[in-house]
Amino acid sequence: MTDVLDGVRDHYRAAGLTQRLKAALAAFGPEDQLLAPQQLAALDQFHTRGLAATAELAKLAQITADMSVLDVGSGVGGPARFLAATYGCRVTGVDLSEPFVDAARYLTERTGQSRQVSFQTASALELPFDDGSFDAVLLQHVAMNIADRARLYREIRRVLTSGGRFATFDVVSMSGEPHYPLPWARTPATSFLLTAAATGEAIEAAGFRALAWQDDTEAAKGWAAQLRASGPPPSPNLGVVMGLDFAQLAANLGRNLLEGRLGILTAVFEAA
Ligand SMILES: C[S@@+](CC[C@H](N)C(=O)[O-])C[C@H]1O[C@@H](n2cnc3c(N)ncnc32)[C@H](O)[C@@H]1O
Repeated sequence: MTDVLDGVRDHYRAAGLTQRLKAALAAFGPEDQLLAPQQLAALDQFHTRGLAATAELAKLAQITADMSVLDVGSGVGGPARFLAATYGCRVTGVDLSEPFVDAARYLTERTGQSRQVSFQTASALELPFDDGSFDAVLLQHVAMNIADRARLYREIRRVLTSGGRFATFDVVSMSGEPHYPLPWARTPATSFLLTAAATGEAIEAAGFRALAWQDDTEAAKGWAAQLRASGPPPSPNLGVVMGLDFAQLAANLGRNLLEGRLGILTAVFEAA
């Protein structure tokens, strides 16, 4: 398992990321000028359909100001900052990639949200929190990097209160093998896709009951077709985070969606 985690860490290694972000964000104004969280959306929402998908998931999960929320696999922190800014809740993010956590903290300072939003380096398979610490857990485009789904969903259940919400937005397998490289894995060695049905079964087996279940593949295909027509968003975008080949990785995701090889699942569960 360590080999797999090392492989995933390598994929998101992003050496010198915070320095690169500092340089890229000069386009938005001087370092001491606060940024609005949505100004960062092209580079900090690392999943299909970007900010719109996070906003829809949060609404479906019925996030409220009094909640303590955990974002598992928080990336460079865009979803966590969005939740805190929109709902006024406290958000903690954990991610395997140390450069991502460093970058997430830096971006959160730039938006002036450091008192409300914090990040730690940790594995989703060993969350560094006591049982029942959170009212809601978010998992966006992370599960496809994790082979041991039973353990992932058990850990999420463990850190949730009874009745807590688990909101997931992930890529699922549909038909045939996907084309690589992809945004989460340049080869199949670190990609562990399940079908939507198998994902639901694994989540329920960990002690959850489904509250909402949406096949978002069509919306994702629309996004992919638009991306194909318009090309990547203007810089700074996720290319700053993932490197020069990001446009190709995103285009391949789009191709897999449009060919019916991959799909997108949005679901919200209640901890039993
Ligand atoms: C495609 S990015 C999504 C980031 C973020 N959820 C978002 O939507 O903006 C996948 C993230 O999952 C993290 N990740 C993958 N496997 C992980 C694990 N076992 N534990 C914690 N984080 C993990 C990666 O480091 C990466 O930041």
